[in-house]
Amino acid sequence: MHESHLLKLKYIMDKHVLGLELPTDPRWVNIAEKRIEDILVDHAYCEQKAATSCISLIVKFPDKEKLVDMLTPVVAEEWSHFERVLEQLKKRGYTLGKQRKDEYVARLGQIEKKGGSREEQLVEKLLINALIEARSCERFRLLWKHIADEELQKFYYELMVSEAGHYKNFLLLAKEYLPEDRVMERWKEILAAEAELLKTLEVRGDRMH
Ligand SMILES: [Fe+2]
Ligand SMILES: [Fe+2]
Repeated sequence: MHESHLLKLKYIMDKHVLGLELPTDPRWVNIAEKRIEDILVDHAYCEQKAATSCISLIVKFPDKEKLVDMLTPVVAEEWSHFERVLEQLKKRGYTLGKQRKDEYVARLGQIEKKGGSREEQLVEKLLINALIEARSCERFRLLWKHIADEELQKFYYELMVSEAGHYKNFLLLAKEYLPEDRVMERWKEILAAEAELLKTLEVRGDRMH
């Protein structure tokens, strides 16, 4: 990867740029490492949901050309992440297993404002997606930095870089459809709401979020 591109990604991944108000509880990565099968299964479904979410956006907003153009390759990328997680599971003798209840994403759904103009609804969805990318990126960074399995370290480093790019795309797209100051105002509200949500969620080693 080109050095300036790497520097740009390093900048995006800085927690102030990712915007997250509350860092992940440091205990999480230690308990997650001990339950890597559960983490990988949960992670596989995170990738599936990311792909599904991009497909839904394309289907709901086919008239938004920039959105269709930007999110179409992301669907393929998220699905390739799903395949890669599946490969990591298989290598370790595990199978995909059933989807787990995703309390984090369910609760984020409650933060999403319903109603308003079509553009407002779209921006709301784009910001929630940006947030999930940012939080995933932060968690992948912890896995990359702290787990002992060298193959998974490399794996999570690569995925962290990729999700940082998606995070940036969703924010850029949001600014296409509403004025930047309104987008940023709502983004700050969403970040604050997510920090509050996270404080009430149990730290679990069997969940990515
Ligand atoms: Fe992904
Ligand atoms: Fe992503």
